Amino acid sequence: MLVRIALCGLFFTVAAHAQDKSPRGDAQWMLERITGVKWPANSPAIDDMANRIQSGDRVGAAEIAVSKPQFLNVTVKQMALKLSTREETVSADFNDFVAAFMGVTRDQTDARELLTGNFYYRGQTTVSNALIPDILMSNNHYLELNKLADIGAALQRVDGQVVATSPTATAANPDPAGVLTSRAFLSAHAVAGTNRRMIEYTFREFMCAKIENFADTNAPENRIGRDISRSPGGDPQKFQTSCKGCHTQMDGFRGAFAKWDFSPTQNVASYVGLSTGNFAPLLAQNNLVVSKLNRDRQPNIFIEFPTGYVTSNDSWVNNSNHGTNALRFGWTGSNVAGGSGARTFGDLIAKSNRFSTCMAKHVWDSVCKYNLPEAEAEILYVSLGMKFAGDNQFKLRELFKTVAAHPKCRM
Ligand code: HEC
Repeated sequence: MLVRIALCGLFFTVAAHAQDKSPRGDAQWMLERITGVKWPANSPAIDDMANRIQSGDRVGAAEIAVSKPQFLNVTVKQMALKLSTREETVSADFNDFVAAFMGVTRDQTDARELLTGNFYYRGQTTVSNALIPDILMSNNHYLELNKLADIGAALQRVDGQVVATSPTATAANPDPAGVLTSRAFLSAHAVAGTNRRMIEYTFREFMCAKIENFADTNAPENRIGRDISRSPGGDPQKFQTSCKGCHTQMDGFRGAFAKWDFSPTQNVASYVGLSTGNFAPLLAQNNLVVSKLNRDRQPNIFIEFPTGYVTSNDSWVNNSNHGTNALRFGWTGSNVAGGSGARTFGDLIAKSNRFSTCMAKHVWDSVCKYNLPEAEAEILYVSLGMKFAGDNQFKLRELFKTVAAHPKCRM
């Protein structure tokens, strides 16, 4: 009986707290959602935020919360961790991709540079801080940084991405594309495979679009590689109705990464014509791109369709610009039809309307933590995305404030 009463009492307390929509209750909710940690009810920040909420300034209240170190160290970090690897989990190791996300948020630069910029973030540590062994050939530096209490404060921006061209030399990255050419993203998606995953995951993380949902069998097939059978299992119809849909999309874009590889044995990213010795990627027979784009240094079994597209440079075409995909992605900018290399591809993605919408969705998920009905959610993400691109000037910190202050964010 006693236990039962105690349980009832506990339930009552929790329920009362969850529904406390007074300015103080609201302030505590907002502070905890933005910082990702619990705060005692008597924290001074809650008083300050409650005062602003009371006077109708919810965005001003959110400003107090994003000024806390936990905003970067917990909330932004966890959001970025999920985008940085194939497993899409917060339990991924801290890495250069996540550091860049935190840095760009802290420094309030234009978030589109996450896909186009020539920079990276590293931190102040006295151990594991050597460029080639600890940053380019391993993740040691970021693991060390992750031990600091306030990583967000320790991050320093470095302008100019670099590639380790041998165990003792580096060169300027000739094709920097923000976090797309970070070690974490390349090691997750440019290792082995055919570099199609670089495209698949750029769309997953920055366009919130899964390949099966934007597959388009009506798009041109002239960029589809030789390794894709046009008659799988002897059935040409299957190619037309299935394989073609995804491969028109990925194969059109993947030339953007035709010069990039990630070596699992050397544990390093490499670039055609720059990296030497053990660090040099396996080149295609034309010596112009990595072999896996054409699969011509591997057993012939991979060449299923000899007259398929042969890659000889890093040009790409946008085959996601037909029918409903044109509407879905909302392309703008100077690379809508196509371009060359990773940076122009990143520019295409960053300048699409869908990028802003997707960033709004990620922030919604990380702060509001519930799903609205799909149709309503789509409209809301679009309007938050427009605010991000407009008033918020592409500043992620501002987007977090906008989303947390939105009347729908708290259920
Ligand atoms: C739902 C989208 C989708 C469809 C449909 C699809 N593919 Fe793919 N395909 C992919 C993705 C994504 C990759 C890259 C996978 C990776 O590297 O992790 C890929 C990679 C490949 C590869 C290279 C695999 C390797 O060794 O790295 C081949 C070959 C291939 N697909 C053939 C086909 C054929 C044949 C069909 C039709 C029967 C088909 N695909 C249908 C999405 C698709």
